[in-house]
Parts: sequence; structure tokens; C-alpha cells
Amino acid sequence: MSGIKVLSIDDLSDGDLGRLFFRARSLNTKKVATEKNGKVMITAFFEESTRTKLSFAMAALKLGFEVLNFDAKSSSLVKGESLADTLRTLDHLGADLLVTRSSQTLDRELLQHLRPSIINGGDGINEHPSQALLDCFTLLNFFECDDLFKKKILIVGDISKSRVAKSNIKLMKRLSATVSVLEPSCFSEASLLKDVERYKHFKNLPDDFDAVMTLRIPKERHEHALFMSNREYFKEYGLSKARLSALGRHCQVMHPGPMNIGVEIEESVAYGAQSLVATQVKNGVIMRAALIEHCLAL
Ligand code: CP
Repeated sequence: MSGIKVLSIDDLSDGDLGRLFFRARSLNTKKVATEKNGKVMITAFFEESTRTKLSFAMAALKLGFEVLNFDAKSSSLVKGESLADTLRTLDHLGADLLVTRSSQTLDRELLQHLRPSIINGGDGINEHPSQALLDCFTLLNFFECDDLFKKKILIVGDISKSRVAKSNIKLMKRLSATVSVLEPSCFSEASLLKDVERYKHFKNLPDDFDAVMTLRIPKERHEHALFMSNREYFKEYGLSKARLSALGRHCQVMHPGPMNIGVEIEESVAYGAQSLVATQVKNGVIMRAALIEHCLAL
């Protein structure tokens, strides 16, 4: 029997979302499983990661899994084996759950035929569903509510090349938030999203945002270098203290990481009183534990 696949926010029903947020709230992160559950999770990351890979590993250990880390750089990928054959091999080895990350959009057709449950830990410019879950969970907890109705959220960055933004916009809208995007014109491609307010710069923005999420410049997804230096980008589009106060008195600050301080965000904002960045990372463990349970029907 083929396991549950969560490759996109669209793979989760409204009922799933409610159960996942409820479960994440009730999970005690300090509780470590005293018994192994006999299941094996493999983190199959074909691209770099700190938060996603390690928070899935932490979550799985707390649930009693054995955790194996597939190391792309010392694997047979180097000898020419394809990503598809690598994933088939991890299936044949007997993994119960694969968490993947790749620089290309995942091949849903291929993954549907694999036996293990699979969670997309970020695929190219497509989606990063567990990041959106933990980000929205962080907002729901902060605002102490069950949805994001009447919450105004601004996302700043290269939306068309951001898997974090795409999954977050889908999920925030499912939770009834009003989502706006600020897409700097230095990025050649604008996103094709519908039903979002669009801005090109920080001038004339509304002043009643509840949260702002800023994103790093995904340089590895650009064929050509930006015509702006890091310093110029910060001057035009960086989330400074002054810009944050103009967005709203109580506007909360989010960043999925990794952060480039002094490029897309000012240090005092990243670590300031309105920052939810550390909470996002902490919530990653419990939210991902709930998602693992969902995929394995534990
Ligand atoms: N936000 C995020 O995906 O971080 P990592 O690349 O460190 O996993």
C-alpha cells in the first residue's frame, strides 16, 4: 500500500489542517519517546538545509523513529544515479517515511508509486508545505485564534521564485487572511498569483498590517546576477525599523530563514521585540511531528 504524500498544501483537506494545528498545540516537545516505534524516516535532501532537515529529524526522534540521513554528496548520485532511482532505492531499502528536498519540482507521478509516505521539504520554486504549516501555526498561536480572518499579512521578496511564499499564500488564504505581496522590480519575473494585493516598493503601503514576512534573495535560482548589490537591495527593500513601524504599530515580523542580516532585514528587526523568527524555528519541531503522525496515521 502506498503511504500518504504531502507534496503541496493542496494535499491537505480543511479537516486535515484543523487536526494538524490541534495536534501540534497538544504535543509536548520536551517529551522524548521511551520506546522505538519500529519505523524509519530518511531525510533525502538533494539541496542544503538546516531548519527543515534537523527539525524533521528532531520531531521523528521524539516520536520514536529511527532517523537516517541520506547524504547526497557522498551518495551514488555522484556516480550518475538519478534522483528518481535514488528515491526508488530508499523505498526498496524499507523506509517508512521520506522527507525530501530538491532544487527541481518533484515528480508527483513518480512519488505516488513509491510505497513510503513522503513529505516535500521544499522543491525548487514550487512548494514548501511544512514551512507554511509552521508559519501559520505560529501566527494562529500568536493571535490566539483558529483562523486568520481579518489578519493582514505582507510578504516581501522574490515571490515567483519562492516556494515558501507560494505554500504560505495558499495556506494563509485557506485560513481567510488578506495577503499582500511586495515584489521588488529588480526581480525580472512577477508572480502570477491571483487575489493578492500587489506592491512594488515600500512607499504608500497601508499601515495596518498584522504581520510581515520577508524573504532572502534566492540567488541560486537566478540565472543572472541581480543588477543591485546587497547594500542597494537593503536600502530599497530591506525591512528596517523605520519601515516596520510604518507597516503597523503591532506588526509582527517573520522570516523562514536562512536570514541574510543587512540585506533583506535589519539586525534590530530580526531579533527585536516584534520578531517571531525564533518561535517559527521552535514551532517547526512540533508542527512537523504532527505532520509525520498524519502521514503515518499514528
Ligand atoms: N526555511 C527553510 O527551509 O530553512 P532551511 O533551508 O534551513 O531548511
